[in-house]
Amino acid sequence: MQSTARFIQRLLHSINRNIQSNLIINSKMASNEHFELSSGFKIPAIGYGTWLADDEEKFEKAIDTALEIGYRHIDCAIAYQNEHIVGRVLKKWLSTGRLSREDLFVTAKLPPCAMRPAGVRKYLNKSLESLQLDYIDLYLVHTPFGLNEVEGNLHPTKPDGTSDYDSTTDHLAIWKGFPNFNSDQINRILKNCRIPPCNLQIEHHAYLQQPKLVEFCKLNKIIVTAYSPLGSPGLSKLGKETPDLLGHTKVKEIAKRYNKTTAQVLLRHILQKGIVAIPKSVTPERIRQNIDIFNFQLNEEDMETLNGLDENLRILDFKFIFKGLKIIPNIHLKGKNT
Ligand code: A2P
Repeated sequence: MQSTARFIQRLLHSINRNIQSNLIINSKMASNEHFELSSGFKIPAIGYGTWLADDEEKFEKAIDTALEIGYRHIDCAIAYQNEHIVGRVLKKWLSTGRLSREDLFVTAKLPPCAMRPAGVRKYLNKSLESLQLDYIDLYLVHTPFGLNEVEGNLHPTKPDGTSDYDSTTDHLAIWKGFPNFNSDQINRILKNCRIPPCNLQIEHHAYLQQPKLVEFCKLNKIIVTAYSPLGSPGLSKLGKETPDLLGHTKVKEIAKRYNKTTAQVLLRHILQKGIVAIPKSVTPERIRQNIDIFNFQLNEEDMETLNGLDENLRILDFKFIFKGLKIIPNIHLKGKNT
């Protein structure tokens, strides 16, 4: 059983990293492999996304490959139910001295079923245990809404199949970071917090660029992290049709001119806007490709062309995952499909 002092030490470490992570964003930084933090800490500009990696053997090999290739930023969440696999690989690398803990930037997330102050301690500890780490570098609140807690069930549903929402969720009471929050929700936290937030993780790709929200974050020194940066083609695994962003004619045309893949062009477009990207892949060649984007620069015209692909199209709409979401007030995820 972990002592309270030990827990507080871990929590403070995570929070301190977050406080100190207010980024000064400029285009020069985006051309480096890291985003410089005002504190001197660094967030690798490309992270390895881990959602939907459920084939244990393949995933374990993929994390190994990612670390070998040079990924040092790993985006995890207890809700993905695979943190123990990440933990196993990290343990191997850390215990044999191939990596030291300071080389890594690991993100974990408070799951929707733990959106209460007491849930933070409980679920942070669970993540630390699964990841076999003493601290994590960034702890985010996974969703802007909460679910009721049902022991042993991270995605509780009601008898009618809709998600079992907790209408008492209080963002101010629990925040550390806030994936998927909108500017109204962030503003409420900014106006009331003592420790300003430093990171917002949102769906962000050429079809959903959310320029106003990104600008709002820049003004408030909040670094944006893009999930689904390639348009989330892997959602087909869950039976969802997705538009073929990787096969878009204009992206293909740009990729050909730079002698790069369309995935590399889409990721580079995001980086040049000062945004971190966390593409997911369990395929070695793609894992390599997705981080090999620091040796070219899209020109202004191509950036404009890619900016012009914005259709405000949310691909990973929450209603697909959390049935009955519309009944929850104060969730204004914007974009078609929401
Ligand atoms: P796989 O894991 O089979 O390699 P996103 O990060 O936008 O959600 O996209 C993740 C999906 O995109 C995964 O299904 C992944 O497939 C696929 N993917 C990742 N990188 C590439 C790439 N470089 N080229 C094509 N598909 C990719």
